[in-house]
Amino acid sequence: MVEKSLKIALCFLCVILCHSFSAFAAAPDESAPLNEDAENFFPTDSAVLHDKISYNMRKSLDLGDGACYLQPGKKESIVACGFNATLRTILIIHGWTMSGMFESWMHKLVAAVQRRESEANVVVVDWLGLANQLYPDAVNHTRRVGQSIATLLDWLQEEEQLQLENVHIIGYSLGAHVAGYAGTFVNGIIGRITGLDPAGPMFEGADSYNKLSPDDADFVDVLHTYTRGALGVSIGIQEPIGHIDIYPNGGDVQPGCTFGEFLSAASGNFMEAMKCEHERAVHLFVDSLMNKDHVSYAFQCTGPDRFKKGICLSCRKNRCNSIGYNAKKMRKRRNSKMYLKTRADTPFGGYHYQMKMHVFDRKNAENADPTFYVKLYGSYNDSSNLIVDVTEGIGLNLTNTFLVFTEEDIGELLKISLRWEGPSDSWTSAIKHLGSSFFSWSSAASQKILEVRRIRVKAGETQKKFTFCAEETEISPGEEIMFVKCRDGWEVKPRKRLHY
Ligand SMILES: *[C@@H]1O[C@H](CO)[C@@H](O)[C@H](O)[C@H]1NC(C)=O
Ligand SMILES: *[C@@H]1O[C@H](CO)[C@@H](O)[C@H](O)[C@H]1NC(C)=O
Ligand SMILES: *[C@@H]1O[C@H](CO)[C@@H](O)[C@H](O)[C@H]1NC(C)=O
Ligand SMILES: *[C@@H]1O[C@H](CO)[C@@H](O)[C@H](O)[C@H]1NC(C)=O
Repeated sequence: MVEKSLKIALCFLCVILCHSFSAFAAAPDESAPLNEDAENFFPTDSAVLHDKISYNMRKSLDLGDGACYLQPGKKESIVACGFNATLRTILIIHGWTMSGMFESWMHKLVAAVQRRESEANVVVVDWLGLANQLYPDAVNHTRRVGQSIATLLDWLQEEEQLQLENVHIIGYSLGAHVAGYAGTFVNGIIGRITGLDPAGPMFEGADSYNKLSPDDADFVDVLHTYTRGALGVSIGIQEPIGHIDIYPNGGDVQPGCTFGEFLSAASGNFMEAMKCEHERAVHLFVDSLMNKDHVSYAFQCTGPDRFKKGICLSCRKNRCNSIGYNAKKMRKRRNSKMYLKTRADTPFGGYHYQMKMHVFDRKNAENADPTFYVKLYGSYNDSSNLIVDVTEGIGLNLTNTFLVFTEEDIGELLKISLRWEGPSDSWTSAIKHLGSSFFSWSSAASQKILEVRRIRVKAGETQKKFTFCAEETEISPGEEIMFVKCRDGWEVKPRKRLHY
């Protein structure tokens, strides 16, 4: 474990440093433009920097084709680009780059935004030249790029009576903090800023003025997908910085990114895994634009551990919200942490169930250390066999609460099958088989028995609650019992204790 985290830490440093150095080392190839820029990096006149930032107004899906640039101060560019200030304006900002080119997610995001909002003004903020630098230098430029965007928006307000409430800025990684600065410097309040896994290094713990914060727009929503720290730094910022902060899958291990496998392999693969988790925020957002009728919900919770126990599946008092583009404005909250589980691929949304069951130790089960498996049977479909994920183990003679996630929509939940096994059950059952004729008395004596009388279920997506009961409630390892929907007598009936 220690070795593993050390490896992560080293790879992480390598990403921050080695790639910065390689970008640095590559500089002589382009020495002419770079030398020229050197003096301009910290200009007193911010107009110089405007040359390094362009506003690529999208009309077609091809980023290279038919580019039209909005040029603050040049009114003819508004007409030429067909910018219509009465419509919604969506700005997309990229982050730090090692290639100096748009990454493939940009094309996907632009296409998805255009498909969903065919009328909107879609503008890609291109600051590639300033982002393709040593990471600390790129960070240093975020403020000025934000200032430049504010200048553009102020110009559009003056020239075209643009309403800031119709402006939505979407920023990925460092781009999220650029969006924050744009919100800080603009005259007025931007409608919405979405931060897609905002960058962590040099922003974590910074004061709210120097990173994306709820003060930067009327509604700031943030998706955090890569918040695993190493040596005190994390690629995606860990702390909540919006009105709502959504941590899919706890904000660290994203399904389908197979971090563990990548880790033992070459660092190139490590980079792939890292990119997969960091970029997942973008793909979740694209998913929310494309799959309008398969909305994913996130639930407010104080932390990932409580969420994993299924404690936080409430939608009361706006405690749940749809994620990504479909999120409802929640301006009264600040840094509200929300969680959900997702599938490994698009459509990412799944279904959450809270389950509660009291597990009685009926016989010899003190050290049973049981693992439970459930299968959900629904009106449309059945789930696969799902392992009940409880970190501290199942508590005996206690009520256990846990979260079950299904990838398919099973429809209305009709019945639940439940099975349990101890850690050594395959071994004991083999012995049992072997010696059944000789030692049947002893295996019977050591037989462990648990009892579950009811399972109470709350479906996160529908907020419906049901109780399920079984006829035979005592279960031996490997045995399966079926629970069917029954009337909830849990609270009403006084509980009778069985004595042995
Ligand atoms: C801008 O959009 C509005 C609403 O769709 C439309 O009525 C108006 O004609 C458009 N203006 C221009 C210049 O295209
Ligand atoms: C950022 O820019 C300022 C000047 O504007 C400079 O003094 C500072 O050293 C830069 N920081 C980094 C980390 O490059
Ligand atoms: C659970 O309760 C039963 C009956 O009261 C008792 O025999 C058993 O030892 C308890 N088991 C645990 C693990 O506490
Ligand atoms: C039911 O679920 C299985 C996977 O568990 C899936 O392959 C199948 O397509 C689903 N059927 C329907 C009707 O959704």
